[in-house]
Amino acid sequence: MEVVIVPSAEDGGRLVGGAIADLLTGNPAAVLGLATGSTPLPLYDDLVRRHTEDGLSFAKATGFALDEYVGLPDNHPESYRAVIKREIADRVDFQPSSVHGPDGWSSDIKAASIAYDDAIAAAGGIDLQILGVGTDGHIGFNEPISSLASPTRIKTLTDQTREDNARFFDDDLSQVPTHVLTQGVGTILRARHLVLLAWGANKAEAIRATVEGPVTSMIPSTALQLHPHATIVCDEAAASELANAAHYKWTYEHKPAWQGL
Ligand code: F6R
Repeated sequence: MEVVIVPSAEDGGRLVGGAIADLLTGNPAAVLGLATGSTPLPLYDDLVRRHTEDGLSFAKATGFALDEYVGLPDNHPESYRAVIKREIADRVDFQPSSVHGPDGWSSDIKAASIAYDDAIAAAGGIDLQILGVGTDGHIGFNEPISSLASPTRIKTLTDQTREDNARFFDDDLSQVPTHVLTQGVGTILRARHLVLLAWGANKAEAIRATVEGPVTSMIPSTALQLHPHATIVCDEAAASELANAAHYKWTYEHKPAWQGL
């Protein structure tokens, strides 16, 4: 695991945007795992800038969203299908047919879950998976006690996560769905590079546990410790509970440039 502590979310967005640009330059048909929520927005802004100013193209790339609510109306603006379209897919030159998400509207959720993992496998797997982290340590919507080997499946959101996400639903908890379809922890661990972003003091405890705590399904983000190429990019506030922050900074500053992110 590598921990990169950046001065701001914008700096983090630029850093990871550079890694994605390098990936797409080497392989224009790369497969990206896309997160929603507020965390990836500075990264998406950076990718849009690279597309507009530098000609970075997503035309041959494929995107897979991490998760989707179950129970929202088809055209709801906060469905993750709508959010991915609005925040990144429509702002660059992704082919609409190349951006996928779990089908939270399926009448057969179990079949839709299996189909999603099959689609990721058929695309050759995810090259780089963007992740945020919940205040309770969820990745995707894998809440505490999610199996660390789990496939895509339906999950029940915790009260904490529903309260955290009420800001996207007019601060009205009753509008926040109770169920989601999410890539499993096992699905996420199959991506070739995991990049988890975190900004702000409310993520500090989750980042401490992810990096320095024991691996436990009570905090699904700790599964990143099992991955051979996991990068945590966080700002100073999110890094504020790390015991060894000074060492991570020194390590990153002295990293050979050829290693990339
Ligand atoms: C989003 C997702 C979630 C969020 C997490 C943090 O697709 O899978 O794990 O990354 O809930 O949300 P924000 O970024 O809004 O703090």
